Amino acid sequence: MKRLGILISGRGSNFEAIADSIDAGRIPNAEIAVVISNRPEARGVETARRRGLNTVVIPSKGLDRETYDRMVVEELRKNQVDLVCLAGFMRLLSAWFVEQYPLKILNIHPSLLPSFPGLDAQHQALEHGVKVSGCTVHFVDACLDSGPIILQAAVPVLNDDTVETLSARILKEEHRIYTEAINIVLSGKFRIEGRRVILT
Ligand code: GAR
Repeated sequence: MKRLGILISGRGSNFEAIADSIDAGRIPNAEIAVVISNRPEARGVETARRRGLNTVVIPSKGLDRETYDRMVVEELRKNQVDLVCLAGFMRLLSAWFVEQYPLKILNIHPSLLPSFPGLDAQHQALEHGVKVSGCTVHFVDACLDSGPIILQAAVPVLNDDTVETLSARILKEEHRIYTEAINIVLSGKFRIEGRRVILT
């Protein structure tokens, strides 16, 4: 059994999609060992507790990055986590954190990276006027939204889109490809050449 540690900051819909996939047998041989939120008020915290999952709040407010990351890694180790999934976790990880889990930290981002990293990716895409956007699951390195890309999915940007309608279209794809990417990584069916993740 592979043990997932899921890090959230907010709504937690990607976390829920992963939990649903596990419950439905779409991610075989995996379980959620711990859900960690850096925000006590995150809606995902309530959801995780309701689902009976081991849920830990480690507030990040006022702590420097390294101090905070050490607390999170301690919790991940305590729960013997094999794979860390950032699911709307709105904090940059320190180089030290990333070094503790080489190729074992995934993130989902609501744009076709390297376009529109950082906050409000869907707003950035609309403002820029792109005709296609989407989402990316990638390995995490110490830079913002920058590690090797595992999977992407594209969606059209429509004339009458608002941030809300575009975000909803992208989110549906996020939920789909995150499960797929977790399966790829857990099964080890990939190799890395430079920045390229080659699915085998
Ligand atoms: C998702 O759209 C995720 O891709 C994005 O935050 C949202 C979290 O929603 N993440 C980032 O922008 C990371 N840079 P959720 O809490 O419902 O999963």
